Amino acid sequence: MHRDDLFLEFVRVVERAAIAAARTMGQGDRKYSDQVAVESMRKEMESVDIDGTIVIGEGERDQAPMLYIGEKVGKGGSPVDIAVDPLEGTNLCATGASNAIAVIAAAEKGGLLNAPDIYMDKIVVGPSARGKVDLNAPVEDNLKAIAQALDREVHDLVIIVLDRPRHERLIADIRKAGARIRLIGDGDLSAGISAAVVGTGVHAVMGTGGAPEGVLTAAAMRCLNGEIQGRLVLTKAADRERLKKMGIADLEKVYRTEELAPGPSVIFAAAGVTEGALLKGVRFFGDGVRTHTLVMTTVPHQVRFIDTIHAKDDPDVKIRF
Ligand code: FBP
Repeated sequence: MHRDDLFLEFVRVVERAAIAAARTMGQGDRKYSDQVAVESMRKEMESVDIDGTIVIGEGERDQAPMLYIGEKVGKGGSPVDIAVDPLEGTNLCATGASNAIAVIAAAEKGGLLNAPDIYMDKIVVGPSARGKVDLNAPVEDNLKAIAQALDREVHDLVIIVLDRPRHERLIADIRKAGARIRLIGDGDLSAGISAAVVGTGVHAVMGTGGAPEGVLTAAAMRCLNGEIQGRLVLTKAADRERLKKMGIADLEKVYRTEELAPGPSVIFAAAGVTEGALLKGVRFFGDGVRTHTLVMTTVPHQVRFIDTIHAKDDPDVKIRF
């Protein structure tokens, strides 16, 4: 599916979704924020030159009106599998909290795991600790391995964990080992990206979040040389049936980055919706709108931060640095 300019089309797609969602920031209606992001992303996809199939989306066909799993997107071209999270952190956007993003990833057919919309136990680390952690190992061992890889003490590490009752034990283990913790309300995907970028002050993400976010994190890790390991977590009887239908028999399997996002040619794009650690949120000003987007490709291996001014169609518009 290699096309030099395809990443730019995806920048356009996430920018549109981010702008739409950002307009609803702080309105307290997470469903509405998500809906407008989904609608804008879907609309913008219509003009992309691909024969796209959604493999990670808004849910099954009967639950989601658009961007559902299996939906065809694009106006025709090379076959591409697409994973989307039009608004990662619906609550963050609805409350105006940091780190809401609009996300898309793409790869050639079969290049992104068709993960079910259930939970996943995850560990995410950056390039230095890649290959040195093990999801099955005790928390303390992983923290020691990360600290060693980063040439520091365990108490110098910052680990991001979703603030959920299910993480009581994990949080206690991290505290006992002596590492620092940043509890977040939502958004383990943007947290995972931060863990793989040197200088963000985040050294790992641990705990259980969405499996779809796990696949998107893997796509980002492929571009950042980081690592995610994930194990599907069943919480309902229906989950087991679902996995069976999908042909997933080994429930203990630890998925590696390359299994979650195996495509040789992966594209990942995320635009900031609200202000974040890596990406600025959408800014509305009199003469237009400004967006900040991270877009990365494995082939060629490039990572871009794109600062876009969507100026009004007006001869008097002034562009500010
Ligand atoms: P939404 O974007 O759907 O609101 O999900 C945000 C999120 O926090 C993800 O980042 C995370 O993987 C998942 O939800 C955790 O699920 P839960 O809120 O059920 O603990």
